[in-house]
Amino acid sequence: MPADKGDRSLRRKPAATTRSSPAAELAPSKRRTLQFELASASPATQRCDVLVVGVFTDEALTSAGKQIDRASDGRLSALVERGDLGSDPGSSVMVFDLPGVAAPRVMLVSLGSRQQFREQAFFKALRSTATLLAGSKTQDAAITLADLDVPGRSLEWRLQHAARILADGGYRFAAPKKQTNGTNQGARHVTLLIAGQSAPALEAAVTRGWAIADGIALTRALGNLPGNVCTPAYLAETAQEMGKEFSFEVDVLEREDMRSLGMGSALSVGRASAQPCKFIVMRYEGGKDGDQPIVLVGKGVTFDTGGVSLKPGDDLDMMKYDMCGAASVMGAMRIAASLGLPINLVGIVGAVENMPGGDASRPGDVVTSMSGQTIEILNTDAEGRLVLCDALTYAERFEPACVIDIATLTGACVIALGAQTSGLFANDETLANELFECGRESDDRAWKLPMGEEYQVQLKSNFADMSNLGGRPAGAVTAACFLSRFTKAYKWAHLDIAGTASVGGDAKGSTGRPVPLLSEFLLKRSAAAVAQ
Ligand code: BES
Ligand code: MN
Ligand code: ZN
Repeated sequence: MPADKGDRSLRRKPAATTRSSPAAELAPSKRRTLQFELASASPATQRCDVLVVGVFTDEALTSAGKQIDRASDGRLSALVERGDLGSDPGSSVMVFDLPGVAAPRVMLVSLGSRQQFREQAFFKALRSTATLLAGSKTQDAAITLADLDVPGRSLEWRLQHAARILADGGYRFAAPKKQTNGTNQGARHVTLLIAGQSAPALEAAVTRGWAIADGIALTRALGNLPGNVCTPAYLAETAQEMGKEFSFEVDVLEREDMRSLGMGSALSVGRASAQPCKFIVMRYEGGKDGDQPIVLVGKGVTFDTGGVSLKPGDDLDMMKYDMCGAASVMGAMRIAASLGLPINLVGIVGAVENMPGGDASRPGDVVTSMSGQTIEILNTDAEGRLVLCDALTYAERFEPACVIDIATLTGACVIALGAQTSGLFANDETLANELFECGRESDDRAWKLPMGEEYQVQLKSNFADMSNLGGRPAGAVTAACFLSRFTKAYKWAHLDIAGTASVGGDAKGSTGRPVPLLSEFLLKRSAAAVAQ
């Protein structure tokens, strides 16, 4: 297939302009969304295609389990005693046509041992339920897991996370394929069964979980789009459409605006690309007048070839995910705006494409950042920090409560922490701890790494205030140290998501991380704002 044909097939028919509109690929109607309902019906009589029941491996049945067991004349306990269900939390078996039970299928999900049942096992059980539902023929599922007692966690907390994880499990990328497999589309409707009565606060928790998953879906969709579709202009249009949808301000600064602001560093990255740079500023005002905003800054390198310091070819397609920081900022904006959170939130995205070419930056080039500090570009592949430093300087004008940047910044962070954990750096201990906790609470972990003065020497340059290259030792740390030189005016944290934002191999795709962590943070700050 000629390359340009593949390109066109992803785009909506051009109307007045030649560029595709984000609405084509990102319309909520194209995104699979689960619908939730909260009900206090008995599990045995609940009509649905599949009923999901948790089973502890070392103790009596759960209350939902007991009801099913009673209705089916002890079939469930007999089944559990036979030991067909694995003891690892999340392992499952499907049972068909249990007598006395309205649902034709009952999915038993192992919860592990009751003694060790904490957040981790709860998340695992939900995640495997989500995977099974997403790949199954069933349309309508009823789930009893949110009613399980997790020590120290309220029913609201359990409902929010259950809704988020189940809805996120239903995410599918609308791939432009000729033939789509229409059979196993997965569940569309989920009833969360609880023993007690429903109440507005409980409904709100489900809505929160759903809205977080919806933001995550946007982040994942943007990440998965190929670099020929998701360009800087595409990110800008997506932001503008979202701004219209939720009535928040979006400004898109063009190359000329960036030049007037003195963003010589960010502009140097996009120089050789045919795709013009865009600097996107989103402003959501849900807080009180004069409330200092939280500012999120995202690395939006829509494709990272490395530039003249060209990357090797292996897995180079994964560099379309180099805008996942930007995508997570946009996902977080969507969540805050759709929930009407009582905070002021600014999202800044530096969107550029890093290409080699006749006009590309050369190793040894010296550029002047918006802060006035000069940078010797020793490696054009260390481009993320060049974009972020100008965005971080720009952030000063908002007099922020705090600034968090999110970036697929270094391969070194992947070596240090793998795909499990994001790197967390901060110039403020309290902010670092707050984000660390949010990672734990949402099972979207981050781990603190050092950023001491002793690493700064690695950025020394003979020809400018600093070089953009810190050498191989502690590569994630020196990248953070570089950014720290632009964040002296406020409380700042940096999340290196190079390892966590996407997965390769058979399950290739974006994960939506660290949106769960960020949304937890925004919710916590919202609760604090209301309490004031
Ligand atoms: N986008 C990459 C970092 C990256 C690597 C993200 C692997 C996801 C997976 C970044 O722009 C980069 O190329 N970093 C270089 C920095 C080096 C030249 C100092 C790296 O990590 O090798
Ligand atoms: Mn790079
Ligand atoms: Zn990059």
